[in-house]
Amino acid sequence: MNLRAGRLKKQMSDEAADYTSSLSSDMVIFEADIKCNFAHVLMLKEEKIIDNDIADKILEALDKLKEEGYDALTFDNSVEDIHMAIENYVTDIVGSDAGFMHTAKSRNDQVATDIRLVLRDKITDIQLGILEFIEGLTLFANEHLETVMVGYTHLQHAQPITIAHHLMAYAQSLKRDYERLNDTYKRVNLNPLGSAAMTTTSFPINRQLTTDLLGFDAYLENSMDGVASRDFISETVFDLSSLMTTLSKICEELILWSSYEFGVVQIADEYSSTSSIMPQKKNPDVAELARSKATIVNGELISILTILKAIPYTYNRDLQEITPHLWNSIFISEETLNIVTKMLLSVEFNKDRCLELAGSNFATVTDLADIMVREKKIPFRTAHKIVGRVVNEAIDQDKNINSKFIDEIAIDLDFDPLNLDDSLVKKVLNPLENVKIRSVPGGPSPEMVKIAISNLNEFLDEEFEKKGI
Ligand code: ARG
Repeated sequence: MNLRAGRLKKQMSDEAADYTSSLSSDMVIFEADIKCNFAHVLMLKEEKIIDNDIADKILEALDKLKEEGYDALTFDNSVEDIHMAIENYVTDIVGSDAGFMHTAKSRNDQVATDIRLVLRDKITDIQLGILEFIEGLTLFANEHLETVMVGYTHLQHAQPITIAHHLMAYAQSLKRDYERLNDTYKRVNLNPLGSAAMTTTSFPINRQLTTDLLGFDAYLENSMDGVASRDFISETVFDLSSLMTTLSKICEELILWSSYEFGVVQIADEYSSTSSIMPQKKNPDVAELARSKATIVNGELISILTILKAIPYTYNRDLQEITPHLWNSIFISEETLNIVTKMLLSVEFNKDRCLELAGSNFATVTDLADIMVREKKIPFRTAHKIVGRVVNEAIDQDKNINSKFIDEIAIDLDFDPLNLDDSLVKKVLNPLENVKIRSVPGGPSPEMVKIAISNLNEFLDEEFEKKGI
């Protein structure tokens, strides 16, 4: 079957054929293309657009190809893409009647349909991976409800938190990544088939039937949009970029925390490397690579948007160049999600070091200001000033903070002495006590984190059920 035998007199040069071929990434849509052809031919048969016996022969050949797999196809330079290769296969079996398969169908609507068919499964796979990661995080968090560590702003000690609260922050970010994909899925799972080249066809095709056969939610309402739109791809890759950003931020923290200076975490040997010259080294290479792979997905998103932005309606071959960026983004996201999940869930936190960091460097003194407001009814800004000076002097004079020391500073700043209860001062300066009193919704107190974990578990149950798991 040579497409060029009509309008064109000469074959494409080998160079041009290689340059324009999409075969290197068409393998991904091989099964989807068989499915798409199958649904189309079944519909043509149902609607009596092509003869029953011809349709049956074509359907049989498609079934055979499905069984035999990709390697049953033959390729030479006259085969531009997977659609032609599959048509050639069917023609070899059925003869020239195979040509009826292409009635009322174009490669333009076909490729758009194929990509959507593959993509919806890939989205579901990635979503399941995210749910599993969240599930692992909730279990891990349960083990660390009272493991106190310091939280940072500006990468400076800020306030005590627990490992559980921190892990649950990751989980919330992943939950949004999951939900974003849910939303995108609705726009992916729409059927362009029947748009044909760009204006549908004069044959009385049944678009609802192919929509049902292929399991799409609905067909796309505009045939030009059907063949020209790829924003379902840019949207998906944005979602993946966002997921990769979440994973990259997690990795960034693992890299910092596993450094000698932090000493907060041990990454398992299975996810670490060493040096070929420095025998003492344990390096977080997996986390580093995940961090840079996130950059690659960001780059794919920019490539896709930039290809799309200047294409006049409707199909232009530029669109072919978008698809490999999608598959690469999917591939990177899947492998990164998998390995980061395993790496993070197997780390060991150094509880003593976490507590040491939380108890040093004044991370608890916000609450010293808070008890001044609560117990002595002084405005927060005044308390903030006194405590700020208390910290300053404690550093300068190398002293511990107690009620007497606070009052000396207060007097020095022209305020009345506060006479705070020393045991109360001691209590709020204790990191675990400090965390326990932050028991408003969203806070790090163990009771609040337990509630957050149980809410998230409910979400997981619902979503696993929706995905049939
Ligand atoms: N390989 C093409 C793509 O991925 C398939 C559609 C080709 N259509 C065409 N009119 N040349 O977009």
